[in-house]
Amino acid sequence: MKKKILIGLAVLFVISQFINRIDKTVPDYDKSKDFLTMTQAPANVVEVFKTACYDCHSYETRYPWYSNVAPMSWMVGHHINEAREEMNLSRWGELSEEDQKEKTEDMIDAFENGWMPLGTYTMIHRDALIPFKKRYEIADWLKK
Ligand code: HEC
Repeated sequence: MKKKILIGLAVLFVISQFINRIDKTVPDYDKSKDFLTMTQAPANVVEVFKTACYDCHSYETRYPWYSNVAPMSWMVGHHINEAREEMNLSRWGELSEEDQKEKTEDMIDAFENGWMPLGTYTMIHRDALIPFKKRYEIADWLKK
């Protein structure tokens, strides 16, 4: 009986690997419209964005190994899709000036109040935990 359940679970696990695999292809995009390029961000700002934000909010995602394994892949794929939909920093130049202003305000709020990156992300990516002082440095830069 126990053995049957285990085999059943193993089969389910294998089948689940074929459901909702992440589409890692990236559309052709204009790299000159990237947020960090357009704003000529200084090195310290680039570093923080690339380590803590770009995995979700851009086309420059560094996929971790578990992004190939369901059910983790479902969560990773969902977060990336949702994040790019809300704010894709690779396509910053396509936003209206008004939208850029609004997203910048949101980012300042995210840095000052620490609601980004997502907690489930920093749990695994410890390097994406941004020290307090750095958060305020970035927020100050964004205010310019
Ligand atoms: C693990 C993926 C992930 C990472 C890493 C991440 N975000 Fe997000 N972000 C999301 C998701 C998903 C949403 C949309 C849902 C939500 O608001 O929770 C979002 C929403 C946002 C929004 C709101 C956009 C809007 O217009 O409403 C801002 C601003 C933001 N993120 C900024 C950042 C910044 C700044 C960083 C880096 C410090 C960052 N995010 C890192 C996943 C991520």
